[in-house]
Amino acid sequence: DAPEDLVSRAPIVTVMGHVDHGKTSLLDYIRKENVIAGESGGITQHIGAYGVELEGGQKMAFLDTPGHEAFTAMRARGAQVTDLAIIVVAADDAIMPQTKEAISHAQAAGVPIVFAINKIDKPTANPEKIKEGLAQMNLLVEDWGGKIQSQDISAKTGLGVKELLEKVLLEAELLELTANPNRRANGTVVEAFLDKGRGYVSTVLVQGGTLKVGDYVLAGQHSGKVRAMQDERGKNVKTAGPSTPVSVLGLDGAPQAGDKFNVFDDEREAKTIATKR
Ligand code: GTP
Ligand code: NA
Ligand code: MG
Repeated sequence: DAPEDLVSRAPIVTVMGHVDHGKTSLLDYIRKENVIAGESGGITQHIGAYGVELEGGQKMAFLDTPGHEAFTAMRARGAQVTDLAIIVVAADDAIMPQTKEAISHAQAAGVPIVFAINKIDKPTANPEKIKEGLAQMNLLVEDWGGKIQSQDISAKTGLGVKELLEKVLLEAELLELTANPNRRANGTVVEAFLDKGRGYVSTVLVQGGTLKVGDYVLAGQHSGKVRAMQDERGKNVKTAGPSTPVSVLGLDGAPQAGDKFNVFDDEREAKTIATKR
C-alpha cells in the first residue's frame, strides 16, 4: 500500500491469562453484557471477538482467549493477530503456568503487554505480590520503576477498568496503527461453526481492506460468496473495515481458527488459489 492510502485503524487487543483469572469477565464488563452466564461452566471454549466503542469514541477490537492448557495453539494465534496484549492476573492467586505462557506468546510476537491485576475487590487480593512476581521474571511494571504498564482492576465492580483502557490506548497510539480500507479485504479467522439456522458461520477479523456482502472469500480450505455479515450483537452490516470483527455467512464449510482469509474476484480465481494451498 502507498503511504497516502493508509488511514489510522483501531487497535486489536488480545486478552490472555491463566484459567479463571477473569479474561471473559473483563471483556464482559467492557461490553456491559453478560456472556459468562451462557458458557457451560464459565469456561471460554474458543476465542470470541468483539468490537467496542469507548466513551471517547475510540474503537478497539478485542479477542478473548481461553486459559485452559488445551488451548495453547489458539493463544499463540491470538498473539499473532494482535497489536497489544492485556494479560490478566488474578491478585488473589499468583503468576501461573498459563500466565507465563501468555507472556511468552506476546513477547515472541513482539506485542506490547499491559498487565491487568484483577480481582482486587477480594479481601485476599495482594496485587503487590503479583508485581513482585513479575519483577522476579524481569518484568518491571511502572510502580516498580519499570516501563511496563499495569493496572489494578476488578472485572466484577469495574474498578480500574477505565484506567486500564486508557493505558492500552496510550500504548496503541505509540504503534501508529494504519491500514488501507480501499482494497479487497484480508484477515484472520477467529472461530467458525455450523449453525442450524444460518449454516456455516465464520467469525473473522478484518485486518486490511474492507469486506463487503457479495465478496468472494477464500478462508483456509473453504470459500464462498458472503451472503450476510453480522456484528457481535447479531446486527446485519454491509461492510467491515480494518480492525473489525464480523461474522460471515456463506462459506461452504468451517475454516480453522487462525486460518487467513482473502477476497477474490470470482469463484474461479479463489478455487485456483485453493488448490495451490
Ligand atoms: P477461562 O476462559 O476459563 O480461562 O476463564 P476467564 O479468565 O475468562 O475467567 P472468567 O471471566 O470466566 O472468571 C472466572 C471466575 O472469576 C468467575 O466466577 C468470575 O465471576 C470471577 N471473577 C472474575 N473477575 C473477578 C473480579 O474482579 N472479582 C471477583 N470477585 N471475581 C471475579
Ligand atoms: Na472461566
Ligand atoms: Mg474466559
